[in-house]
Amino acid sequence: MPIDTICGLQRGDEGKGAIVDRKLASGKYTWNVRFQGGANAGHTVKAGGKKLILHQIPSGVMHERVRLGLGQGMIIDPFGLRDEVEQLRVMDIDATARLCVSSGAKIVCPWDKLLDGAIDRVRAKAMGMQVAEGGGVGTTNRGIGPGYANAVSRDGITVAQLVRPNVLFNRIKVVVPVINCMIRGVRQELDLSEEQLPEYTVSGAFEQLAPIGEWMSLIAYPLHELLRVALMEGEFLLAEGGQGYFLSNDCTVSYPSCTSSITTANAVFSGLGLELRRSWIGSTIGVVKAYQTAVGNHPMPTYIGNEYQERIQRIGGEIGASTGRIRDCCWLNGLELREAAQFCDVIYVTKLDVLSGIPLIPIATALHPDNHAPNHPVLTDLPQTWEEYMLCQPIYGINVTGWNEDISGIRRIADLPSSAQEYLATIAKIASRMVICVGVGPEREQFCV
Ligand code: IMP
Repeated sequence: MPIDTICGLQRGDEGKGAIVDRKLASGKYTWNVRFQGGANAGHTVKAGGKKLILHQIPSGVMHERVRLGLGQGMIIDPFGLRDEVEQLRVMDIDATARLCVSSGAKIVCPWDKLLDGAIDRVRAKAMGMQVAEGGGVGTTNRGIGPGYANAVSRDGITVAQLVRPNVLFNRIKVVVPVINCMIRGVRQELDLSEEQLPEYTVSGAFEQLAPIGEWMSLIAYPLHELLRVALMEGEFLLAEGGQGYFLSNDCTVSYPSCTSSITTANAVFSGLGLELRRSWIGSTIGVVKAYQTAVGNHPMPTYIGNEYQERIQRIGGEIGASTGRIRDCCWLNGLELREAAQFCDVIYVTKLDVLSGIPLIPIATALHPDNHAPNHPVLTDLPQTWEEYMLCQPIYGINVTGWNEDISGIRRIADLPSSAQEYLATIAKIASRMVICVGVGPEREQFCV
């Protein structure tokens, strides 16, 4: 079946980019497409001894024969996209010839970025905190929330509108007064001056957006039509999800500490502008890091918190690609794994090597619902709300003996130390899915199958 999807089963940063890279190396796929999210995602590309973090261009950019699609379900930051294209050019990679941005995608406007951080400060203030103290959502400040909100409330701008100056001007005339109402409200709430949070003028906004629209016109296409033709001709597409299951806007237990798009494979067809055809649905690979991480204000009952916290952060390089924030590290939470795995067909585990040398690796199998109410019955399913989840404490019903061997040179799951195999078997059992590939290091070839 022609559309395969790679999705994170945790809170982003599972190492999906390396899996995309590996899948594309098979030569099976002609397209690598994104269908949701925007510059809140991040993945590292290495070429010619240089490293580059990309946020919007799909992970398959290094595969010269693969076309790159940014679907209409995304929220595109045109300025950020141009920066990425320029940085790739410095590395001698010309992405523009292969890059197709859906003309139906909405864009992140300059005010969306401005409002993102400001609105999170309003939320944090209402919670009696600062964002840095865990108030608000702790967004990536890429304008994702306001961008999607404005898109849904019909105050957004599509790529097609952006690249047509006359249409753009008329759109801005309608949108700017609405945005200025929000800006005035936020300014008042945060006690900011006009200089700190200025309103927009129609001419000022047009001057900012028109030149980037001209640039975008080179890469704006009715992507859904190109993809439909490719599918009709028997080509294969690899869809790449951003973030992860527990950051999906429809993940009840995470709301509101989530992103603004649907991050599961459920969003692939609408996010690519394609009709749902049974014969096009391929398999969904769920990506699970061997431990869990989160950046932002999230429930983390299995937060490691002991000497292994710093060690895993260091060895795993757990620093947010989009924000530079250090990621909090947690042991696997079996309740989360079981719920998220329902959204995939098979599992790839990443970063198993990071756990080498840890004597005992716990996995949570139940939760105490509220640390202030010790007599409540334990939970074997996730609670219904984020608020309840924030109070939960883990019960580690499984403790897998660790392994000391360096596993980074191993290429077959069957050759891994028996305790590492037991850990993988435990993941597979909890998830009720097969683990078919395991990452054991940061390099392209460091996978076991
Ligand atoms: P937003 O998507 O920027 O609005 O951020 C909402 C929440 O999702 C914040 O807690 C972010 O830290 C988190 N988030 C969004 N994208 C990613 C990602 O790609 N990796 C990890 N966390 C993310």
